[in-house]
Parts: sequence; structure tokens; C-alpha cells
Amino acid sequence: MGKQVGVWVGCFGAGFKRRKSWLGEGSSVAKLILRAESLKAGIFAHLVRETPPTRRDLLTTEHLPVETITRLLDRSDYFVEMLRIPSPFQKLRTLEGRTVANLFFENSTRTRISFELAERRMGADHVTLTPSGSSMTKGESVLDTVRVIEAMKVDAVVVRHSVSGVPGFLAGHLPTHVHVVNAGDGAHEHPTQALLDAAELRAALGDLRGKRVVIVGDILHSRVARSNVWLLKKFGAEVVLVGPSTLLPRHAEKVFGVEVSWKMDDALVKADAVMMLRIQMERMAGGFFPSLEDYSSRYGLSASGAGARRSASCVILHPGPVNLGVELDAEVSGGEQSLVLKQVKRGVAVRMAVLEWMFESETSSRVE
Ligand code: CP
Repeated sequence: MGKQVGVWVGCFGAGFKRRKSWLGEGSSVAKLILRAESLKAGIFAHLVRETPPTRRDLLTTEHLPVETITRLLDRSDYFVEMLRIPSPFQKLRTLEGRTVANLFFENSTRTRISFELAERRMGADHVTLTPSGSSMTKGESVLDTVRVIEAMKVDAVVVRHSVSGVPGFLAGHLPTHVHVVNAGDGAHEHPTQALLDAAELRAALGDLRGKRVVIVGDILHSRVARSNVWLLKKFGAEVVLVGPSTLLPRHAEKVFGVEVSWKMDDALVKADAVMMLRIQMERMAGGFFPSLEDYSSRYGLSASGAGARRSASCVILHPGPVNLGVELDAEVSGGEQSLVLKQVKRGVAVRMAVLEWMFESETSSRVE
């Protein structure tokens, strides 16, 4: 925790130092910004704004236009078909000569492997940094690590970090030719997860307008929930957030413009889809619910018990990794209505679409 706070303060401090020069160190504007930046929401907004306008990055779904999302989903459909052919023929040359660095400062299985596969399929060279293998364990800061990698002439970085706002911070500090993708930052956003979820929802339900999507569980700590809410609302879906009141963000109705409930069975009655979220023990200091058994009986889906009032056609998603027996039991997870494995498969196709889109202006002659 100490290290996380250190990184966060370091990021914040460096960003502010840069702006001081043009604001004037003691100016009232500078003081106002300093105060605003002590609020998490202010930090997110500021970090997003720092992205140079000429470069294509993927930091959030909140700021991604609906036309771009539609194009990415359509291209992921194309890549899903392409990935059905035998693997020796799956390699494109779209990103030949490009190098992507995957900077995973926090653990990942699905996102990291699917980015690596997507980079390979698109013809890019790639390197991956994992938390235990980096010099961060020797006290090197995020920015120093990125400067080291940038000096090695990479064209894009894919960043996962336990601290909210780090990808946006890097986007503000890297040269304009280095693209940045957010692969999940703290409790802020996980845009490629929401894109792959939307692609599978669209494949299962068709047009998302008016579809009722219930998101259940640890909403408070969930970057997946945030990215999904912003995205689904852009497509006119009706979103309901469900969880114990301790795991629902305050004022969620107003902030996100969604329905909020702590009664899962009621919310599920007319649901077209239910997205179950992982209980994020690593982000909890404890005391959010009495016991895992109690949580599971109220907010888990099992073949026999909780969530039984959902309709037979309601599809089930989970971003993974699943706490089996807590959010889902094995029968529901592997059942006919479950999209869990399809979500994993879609991950490679969506990330191929994102990489293609990011480099598009530079490789237009080579994009199919
Ligand atoms: N859904 C998701 O981000 O999973 P990983 O942590 O395994 O990447």
C-alpha cells in the first residue's frame, strides 16, 4: 500500500511540476488546480485532458466516441472470423516494424496474454514487463521505467497498474508518437474489457438499445463496471448496478445516470444480461460484508439458489478471474447462457482491433 501511495504521489507531483512553469508557482490558478487534483475525480479528468490531441490512445470508454466504439466492435467481429482459421495463417503484416511494450505493473492473465497474441497476430514486435521482473522492486518510479523503455524506441505501451490514472499520466509525459493503451488502472477504467464485453453482448442480444444489463457485485472497486457503464449507456442500454450498499459508490445514480439496487433477485426479473463482478479482496481493507457465504447467498448465481428468478434467456458474463462458488458456481459458469469463455476468446480480436485503430493513420497503406 505504501508503494502504491508513493507511486501515486510521485505521478501527481511530476504532473503538477510541469504545469507550474506556465501557471506561475504561487498563482491562485495553480493553488486551485492543486486543490482540485487532491480529489480522485479531478485527477482522472485532468489526466485524460493531458493526452496530446494528435495521437490515438485508448484510456477510457467515457471519452471514446460511439462511432469509434462501433468501428472497433465491427472490426473485432472480422478478427473473430479470422481467428477461426488455422494459426499459421492468422498472422497479418499490419503492424510490421512496430514495437509494443506491455507494462503490467499489476498481475494479469487474460489481458496480458490476449494483448501479446493480438500484437503477434498483427505482425508487431513486442516485449512484456511483469511486476516481479521490473526494477520497480528496486524502487524505480513508473515514469523512470517508461523513460527507459521509451529510450529503446517503442511505438506503443500497454499499461496495467494498481493506481488509478497512471496510463493517463504516462500519456501526458511520453513523446507524441508513443501510443498508450489502458489495460486496467486501479478502480478507474478497463476499456478493452468493456469493448470485448459489448462485442459479446451484441453478438448474443443484437442491438443494445433498451436492453437491460444488470451489473452485480463489487461496483465500488470495479474498473470493469465503470468502463461498461459508460460504454453501455452510449448505446442506449438500461444499466442497473446491484450490490450491498457498502460496495456501491455513493451517488452512483447521479454520477453514472443508472438505476441502483441492493436486491439482486428483483433486478434480475427483466434482465437481458447479468454481468457478475469479482470480489476484489486485494482492494478491500475488510468489513464490506459479514462473510463470503453471506455475500454469495445474496449476490451469487448458482444453479439451484440465488438468482433463480432470472429469465431462461438471460446471458451471464464475468470478466474473470471468477471466485468459483462466490460469484458463480461451476454449473452456471459452464452453462448454456454463460458467455465467460466467449469473452476470453473475444479478448484477442478486440485488442487486434484496438491496435489497428491506434496505428491506422501511420499505416493506412497497409491496413486492409
Ligand atoms: N478481466 C481481466 O482483466 O482479467 P486479468 O486480470 O486476468 O487480465
